[in-house]
Amino acid sequence: MFIKLKILFKSKLVLINFFVSEWLWKLRLNLIIFFIGKKNNLGKALNGLKTKGYYVFHGYFSNSEVEQIKKNCHDQLNSIPSNYLSKYNNDDYIENLEIKENNISIERMSGSIKLKRINDTGNYLKKISQNFFLLILSFIQQCKIAKRGLLIFSLTHDGSFKNNKVPGSASNKDNLAGRMHFDTYYHSLKAYVALEDITQENGPFAYLEGSSTDQLLNKNYLCSARVNRNLKSDIETPHEISENFINNYKDKIFYGNQKKGDLVIMDTKGIHFASSLKKGQRELLWFYY
Ligand SMILES: [Fe+2]
Repeated sequence: MFIKLKILFKSKLVLINFFVSEWLWKLRLNLIIFFIGKKNNLGKALNGLKTKGYYVFHGYFSNSEVEQIKKNCHDQLNSIPSNYLSKYNNDDYIENLEIKENNISIERMSGSIKLKRINDTGNYLKKISQNFFLLILSFIQQCKIAKRGLLIFSLTHDGSFKNNKVPGSASNKDNLAGRMHFDTYYHSLKAYVALEDITQENGPFAYLEGSSTDQLLNKNYLCSARVNRNLKSDIETPHEISENFINNYKDKIFYGNQKKGDLVIMDTKGIHFASSLKKGQRELLWFYY
């Protein structure tokens, strides 16, 4: 009896917390936009997050900054001791392999690799991860103080990138983030900088515009919140969204066809997916908060 009551109380708390947090997020963004306007970068970013769930800053990083970021990421990739990867086949999926020497972890599949926690690898990337503008945005989105973002370098190619640390090819293969999904049931921030020009061919990131406030998804969000609090959920994988859902957003799919140096910020509550790479290579640096 007592346990049942406890579960009931916890369920109600999850429900109340979800709707109150949502209301406070809207209020927070509306108030700040009201006071600072929509013409400055912060106002533009917040208005983008509120109305579409994302915003693009063109040319945010200069060419030399992008080259410097790439150099640091490639240096880390090349310095992974080969004994870590020699036991795997080209097509093996490696979920999370800790590389002690670099203090990073890697995720790899054919033609694709992610280097996680790359912000800990040197002063340059550490400085990039402490981007003040993104820290402020993240604070407003989530009311959580962060000293830096978690940086993840992602590289995907069709076989043309010749490096034995990233063998194989990702072209026309399913990728892990290829299914439509949301990352969090609450508003949070993530961002990426394009480290080269991204077109439809090299698999742009895709986001359903306005989905971060779509009430049709409330059941999924609430189930995800319940799973997070160790409560029973009606949906087994609530963060994965049925492919039919895209029909509601036919003319509202944002494909991140960005120029090198563009910064894309987004609400992690919105529905997104990585479109598959057809040709060439794609390199991105992700910021997570
Ligand atoms: Fe995601």
